[in-house]
Amino acid sequence: MARILLGVTGGIAAYKACTLTRLLVRAGHDVYPLVTEAAERFVRAETFYALARKSRSDDPYPHLERADLLVVAPLTANTLARLAHGLADDLLTEAALAHAGPVLVAPAMNVRMWEHPATQANALLLRDRGVEIIGPAEGELAEGEVGAGRMVEPDAIGARIAELLGMPAAGAGSLEDRAVVISAGGTREPLDTVRFLGNRSSGRMGVALAEEARSRGADVTLLAANLAVDAPSGVTVIQTPTVADLEREALARADADVIVMAAAVADYRPPSALAGKRPKDAKPWTVELEPTPDVLAALGTARRAGQVLVGFAADGAESGLARAREKRLAKGADLFVFNDVSRADIGFDALENEVIVLSEDGELHVQKAPKREVAAAVLDEVERLLSKQ
Ligand code: CTP
Repeated sequence: MARILLGVTGGIAAYKACTLTRLLVRAGHDVYPLVTEAAERFVRAETFYALARKSRSDDPYPHLERADLLVVAPLTANTLARLAHGLADDLLTEAALAHAGPVLVAPAMNVRMWEHPATQANALLLRDRGVEIIGPAEGELAEGEVGAGRMVEPDAIGARIAELLGMPAAGAGSLEDRAVVISAGGTREPLDTVRFLGNRSSGRMGVALAEEARSRGADVTLLAANLAVDAPSGVTVIQTPTVADLEREALARADADVIVMAAAVADYRPPSALAGKRPKDAKPWTVELEPTPDVLAALGTARRAGQVLVGFAADGAESGLARAREKRLAKGADLFVFNDVSRADIGFDALENEVIVLSEDGELHVQKAPKREVAAAVLDEVERLLSKQ
């Protein structure tokens, strides 16, 4: 167990720092978050304190004096410059100046800012002083540009921290050798060759579940229904754009250890798609929709002993929670994850979620947090049920 100071600076990757905090805590480390004001524009400091099992009122100085490692993830261009030049104008930079041990930083910024000679010179200053810089990784950046600027994934930072401290990697292995199938995104049912009936699901929640299951050592298959985000690396991705595709691919894997139906599946579809593009005319276009097969219910019927089956219920109505309880029983699922999609700050297409996980043992309220943290709470429940069997 090591004492780790975790600096979090402002940028969209602050969401990923939540995952890093949890991974380090799971690995048994004592983590003290140092969250800059700019980072709080993305994720509140309270979220980090809760994940680190600390409180804002804790006196930080004992941690600052005795820390084994300082990690800054994500590190902005601005704080990189402040660290390089020894400024001490907030708690994080003060802590960095007072810290005598090893330092690991994970920059995250726009590719042009990273490649700017000023930033490169600052990075060189830090390296010369023995600071280890991990990343930034190549990929699509927050502003839609492509290049080096993404923060390295929390799992990889956690693995490097473990190496630096000479300890086992953070939290890995609890789903080792388990086959986990996760559906994500939203199905699209074609009306003709260019038009479809779809929904607003981005697939972020399912992708977060796939990442989290992979980091726990699972053998993950992601059934991807029109994802608006990148599928994670290290998982098998099968494209399932329609209910028919999803039904076929999910049922082909009905013997998996864990199946999570996080995709928003169309409940109705046109019986057949028109050939070609329907030309516009002055008359209304009436389409009769037929109900789709319920994939989760079919999995519930086909289920085998020892398997854990998880459904999602997206509802905005007052009665949504009661309906989710009924759906869990009707579809033969072990867990149902209820989320209120009438709120704009969580659920569909948002970065955060707040859910209630229903099981026969009761209801677990997961506070608003980045989707990867919600995914971790759901998989903790899955693991609890697996260990009961
Ligand atoms: N589901 C499914 N096949 C369908 C429809 C839904 O497998 N044809 C799954 C979803 O992936 C999700 C759960 O069932 O896990 C949601 O159940 P559903 O009854 O569709 O609930 P909601 O869409 O939340 O609500 P509503 O009944 O209002 O549509």
